[in-house]
Amino acid sequence: MKKLLIILLLLPAYCQTLPAQEQAFKITHGPYLTDMSETAVTIVWITNKNALAWVEVAPDDGSHFYGKERPRYYDTYLGRRQAATTLHRVRIENLTPGTRYRYGIFSKEVLHWENDARIVYGTTIANPAYSRNSLSFKTFSSSDDTVSFIMLNDIHGRADFMKELCRDIDFNTIDLVVFNGDMSSAIHSEEQIFSDFMDAAVDLFAKRVPIAFTRGNHETRGPYADYLMYYFPLKGEKIYRTFNVGNVAFIMLDCGEDKPDSDIEYSGLADFDAYRNEQAAWLRQAVLEKSFRDTRNKIVILHMPPGVSDWHGTLHIDEVLVPLLNEAGTDAVLSGHTHRYSFHPPVQGKTAFPVVVNSNNTYLRGDVVNGKIRIRMTGTAGTKPIEHILE
Ligand SMILES: [Fe+2]
Repeated sequence: MKKLLIILLLLPAYCQTLPAQEQAFKITHGPYLTDMSETAVTIVWITNKNALAWVEVAPDDGSHFYGKERPRYYDTYLGRRQAATTLHRVRIENLTPGTRYRYGIFSKEVLHWENDARIVYGTTIANPAYSRNSLSFKTFSSSDDTVSFIMLNDIHGRADFMKELCRDIDFNTIDLVVFNGDMSSAIHSEEQIFSDFMDAAVDLFAKRVPIAFTRGNHETRGPYADYLMYYFPLKGEKIYRTFNVGNVAFIMLDCGEDKPDSDIEYSGLADFDAYRNEQAAWLRQAVLEKSFRDTRNKIVILHMPPGVSDWHGTLHIDEVLVPLLNEAGTDAVLSGHTHRYSFHPPVQGKTAFPVVVNSNNTYLRGDVVNGKIRIRMTGTAGTKPIEHILE
């Protein structure tokens, strides 16, 4: 017995923790909302073991969630419900604009997949929808005359700082939260995406307020970078996109790297000139769409600020994207990247719009009311906010 005790004590720590298959089945990250529109949203979460997953949705009409059977939405891909996965991404469509819905997430553990006629399931776990703190979201509405959003950028994995920074924000007044790049310094793993910023986002707001995500130059780096957008799925699949919230048309652009593609820092992987040209070809058409042209305010989200740097990435943005943004009637470009606040008014013959650069230590709040855009950047307690009114 004494011998056995000595052997046990000598075992390395990792041998004494339970192997993954013996751990209880659980949700490890999320849920969070992304890619919201007037009629749709995507809900994402992670479990520690493979599962068949679905979401049940009910309007917030005062009825009990379990008053009747609620519609189920599954994570489907090419006609098949996904079960060989721990990452669950459920698209919910055909919702009513401007409407609050409650939702519950469900995951049924896959214990054994002998063949497709015999999949052995284990426990089903849920985020209880009947509790007082039931999860909910509100779809966007074109008839809203007020739009409020938060923008964060250049957090670079400082999750605790992000929580402190956002501590006093009343997210009940916010329609969406924009992540405008460099939330991580490079992407190495799924776990790192969550420890860098996404677990903090879920704690703060992301179960109820949708995220609109675009990359900075740093998120194009790292061995796991090519899987990053699995965690922010988009119906249209492209990171560069337009979407409307109330009377605001947002253009999300994906800046690429700041140095020339041939720079030794990129080890031969960068191909961003071609990618920015691809975005320019898309943008030329996208700004002609009626839903874009007819929307009163036009706000561009672009991590690297245009018109203010002589680094290659910015110069290329100035060359291929800025002329199109000028023609599109852009009201403002909101950026980060430099880690310092700056404001750049329009420059005759160059940029027809102001550029607002949010620092790495402030959040930007935008409130668009009757065509007037109020931008306010706030740091942690004790710092004085900076405000711009753009008309
Ligand atoms: Fe950056």
